[in-house]
Amino acid sequence: MPRLPLVSTVDKLEGAAWLDPAAGTVSRLVKKMLPSGNVTDALHGVPLGHPVHPLMVTVPLGAWVSAAVLDVLPGNNRTARTLVGLGVLAAMPTALTGVTDFSQLDTLQQRTGVVHQASAAVATALYAASWLARTRGGHGSGKLLGFAGLAVSGIGGFLGGHLSYRQGAGVNRNDDLPEEVPAGWHSLGPADEFPTGRPRPAQLGGVRLMVLHRGATESDGGTGVFSVLADTCSHLGGPLHEGHLQDTRGELCVVCPWHGSVFSIQSGEVVHGPATAPQPVFRTRVRGGRLEVSLTGAED
Ligand code: FES
Repeated sequence: MPRLPLVSTVDKLEGAAWLDPAAGTVSRLVKKMLPSGNVTDALHGVPLGHPVHPLMVTVPLGAWVSAAVLDVLPGNNRTARTLVGLGVLAAMPTALTGVTDFSQLDTLQQRTGVVHQASAAVATALYAASWLARTRGGHGSGKLLGFAGLAVSGIGGFLGGHLSYRQGAGVNRNDDLPEEVPAGWHSLGPADEFPTGRPRPAQLGGVRLMVLHRGATESDGGTGVFSVLADTCSHLGGPLHEGHLQDTRGELCVVCPWHGSVFSIQSGEVVHGPATAPQPVFRTRVRGGRLEVSLTGAED
């Protein structure tokens, strides 16, 4: 089936290096305004376990689509105006969640993202003008501005879909791990080959792992306590073994070297975003001097 011309145009955005200065400026501004912390985590969607922006988008788009339906039916001017206004109000926090995610994307994603933002801004401006016109009694011009806003927000929505489903923004990079790691225990090699106190890389088939030898205690018979997580950061795939360890709220964590997501070593939970999906954690044991791992939740 032939592709729509819009699809080819959007594909070209990823190679449009001329968008980088604009994207970089927006990204820097957002990072300056929203340093990492609980508010920024909430805007990313950390408490939800996935990005909050797609959820937020349904409010303005739903209001505007509903207003467009009412606009083609007689006698709904007042309700349509209310929906247009509701959409404009909802667009503000929605944009905030979007730019927060945008600020932590890679270069190619940001090229699409900055055009997506511009489309959303133009659509919101058109709808704001539509609401103003309707408020002043210009329902005819208000409807035209609304239809123009709907067309532009459709382009913005298309770009948002491209960003998520083609470019992988906001998706969990470890979702297929349970299929990649066979059930049971797997050897990673001699346990004493993992030096104590710093994350090391390891390979289990095609899966990259981060191994942390936390030292030996009497209770483990001197074999050592190990923590093993998927090495591929759930955000955009950064190598966690290259990150650093830190204590956050009394919990030992690893910080991703790419965008600073903080994961609990013990549970893999996200302590700070931009990642929203936890890191898969492996069970560990030492048998015959060899470190063995089994994916938590998998059958023995
Ligand atoms: S890749 Fe972005 S925080 Fe790890």
